[in-house]
Amino acid sequence: MRSHYCGQLTAADIGSTVSLCGWVARRREHGASLAFVDLRDRTGVVQCVVDGSVDVRNEYVLRVTGVVSRRPAGNENAEIATGEVEITECQVEVLSAAEPPPIPLSDRIDVDENQRLRYRYLDLRRDRLQRNLRTRAKVNSVVRQSMEAQGFLEIETPMLIASTPEGARDFVVPSRLKPGSFYALPQSPQLFKQLSMVGGMDRYYQIARCLRDEDLRADRQFEFTQLDAEASFVSGDDVRRFITEAVLAAAEAVTGSRPAFLGDMTWLEAQERFGSDKPDVRFGMELIELTPLFTATEFNAFRAPCVKAVREPGGAGRTRKQLDEMTENAKRWGAKGLVWMRVEEGGTLNSPVAKFLSESELAAIVTATEAQPGDLLYLVADERSVVWHVLGLLRLQLGKPPVNEGGLNFLWVVDFPLFEGVDPETGGPIPAHHPFTMPHPEDIDSLGALGEPVPGSDVLLAARSQAYDLVLNGWELGSGSVRIHRGDVQQRVFELLGIGPEEQQRKFGFLLDAFRFGAPPHAGFAFGIDRLVALLSGEENIREVIAFPKTQSGLDPLTNAPSEIDQKQLNELGLRLLPKA
Ligand code: AMO
Ligand code: AMP
Repeated sequence: MRSHYCGQLTAADIGSTVSLCGWVARRREHGASLAFVDLRDRTGVVQCVVDGSVDVRNEYVLRVTGVVSRRPAGNENAEIATGEVEITECQVEVLSAAEPPPIPLSDRIDVDENQRLRYRYLDLRRDRLQRNLRTRAKVNSVVRQSMEAQGFLEIETPMLIASTPEGARDFVVPSRLKPGSFYALPQSPQLFKQLSMVGGMDRYYQIARCLRDEDLRADRQFEFTQLDAEASFVSGDDVRRFITEAVLAAAEAVTGSRPAFLGDMTWLEAQERFGSDKPDVRFGMELIELTPLFTATEFNAFRAPCVKAVREPGGAGRTRKQLDEMTENAKRWGAKGLVWMRVEEGGTLNSPVAKFLSESELAAIVTATEAQPGDLLYLVADERSVVWHVLGLLRLQLGKPPVNEGGLNFLWVVDFPLFEGVDPETGGPIPAHHPFTMPHPEDIDSLGALGEPVPGSDVLLAARSQAYDLVLNGWELGSGSVRIHRGDVQQRVFELLGIGPEEQQRKFGFLLDAFRFGAPPHAGFAFGIDRLVALLSGEENIREVIAFPKTQSGLDPLTNAPSEIDQKQLNELGLRLLPKA
């Protein structure tokens, strides 16, 4: 139907007769007898000079045949690629008429999210989504090439499975042939990729769809896509090299230059300096250690296992109201309180709690924080993990740059703990990654052997794992680990997690079986394609890089999913619904 794309015509095409297909982006009358029609396709727009009597309106679908001509002097448009030319002598064929679009299609106008998703097919016509989805396709393609060049084999894993725990709720699918039984949709291909290693596939990858029933946020959807990989006879370092190569190749393909990698940071350093396991290193305001200053303090609140501060340069002008709000935030995040101190001329500290602190303590705070007049200090005292968490969030609130600023700061966070805390309900530890992660070789003995009593929570929480995360500008892009490949170690870890022998057999018997038949040492990784594409596109929300996403409440306003199913389907599945609560 067409000879050229609209957005690709240049002065070099002047004189050619072309046929173009696309949508009417805009129509402007030019005198009584002519109209300018901007015709848009996936590549951009071009101006067509048409007879004023032709009935074409916004979003009509046209085929236009005409001659590429130079625009009259003074009418060029430097803002668009085709701005030097226009199409004249146009023959216009209307392929589809269109009602006026219910949402504006200009990138300059903000539209309500629900309306955008209700009419996603119109939303997709906008530059922003056209650009983002092209970026996404490029990332997929480059990552695929990179993994294949590194010897990885694409293997598809099933969607209807038992269950792969990744810490979220499963989406489940009722079985028709076995009423009362359910498949789970994969939270990740984790167990199948490990089984494919036992199966001798050596290096696996997949651009894998994953499903997790969890609360949605800017960086979380129910359905998302991972670049998922696993390799045998390799170290964690090897896996990080493979993934670094794939991610940098993708970034280079999108931005035109290869970003530098910042290297490795231990989990402990990330927490101590940034109060986060996914540090945003684009800005300073690092956490400052003050604990040793207060070992003998008279101020009760500071007689705590940990005291740290964040310094906000030039923050002393904050109002009392703002400081009260921050204190409320800090409490919501789990702090007992928040101490603030204004740094005045001469270095005196103005604070409601200054009277509880000695002269030497105040002086020591100024020295340790390198406080300058005009700065504001925020101090939190508590258990170390609480101080990290609260000051880490406060730091982001005070200084986090917009998503498209500060370049691409990739780094690896390594030496994660094996367990991230103790479940208040069960008393058992919570795995920081997933239960298939190999403990650090130096800490494996502290966990004891199969059948021995479970050690105390301090021992468990001190144990490191061989897990690592890939972090970009404060976002967790991905996670991976060296895996357990020995049945006894895996059983011991299940035991520590409070998964008893019967449950182990029922849920993971197939994995423990597989380990009995020759499992290679293996390690792997997965990163979120949605998150990588969002950051490369300068988007705050992964919805902007997904063609058909869900709303924050998990709905699809376009198709109305989730929706009820009819009685016949329920009967076939052997399901009866409870009355609505
Ligand atoms: P993990 O659970 O850390 O690890 O997931 C890996 C990456 O997947 C992305 N991701 C998500 N993206 C959008 N919406 C979500 N709801 C969502 N959940 C996760 C993130 C995350 O870093 N099997 C392990 C990997 C491994 O050990 O090899 C796993 O899935 O970018
Ligand atoms: P209080 O002695 O509880 O009235 O607290 C005095 C001040 O110290 C208040 O501004 C509290 O917000 C603050 N505060 C109390 N406990 C802590 C804590 N653990 N860390 C930081 N500030 C605290």
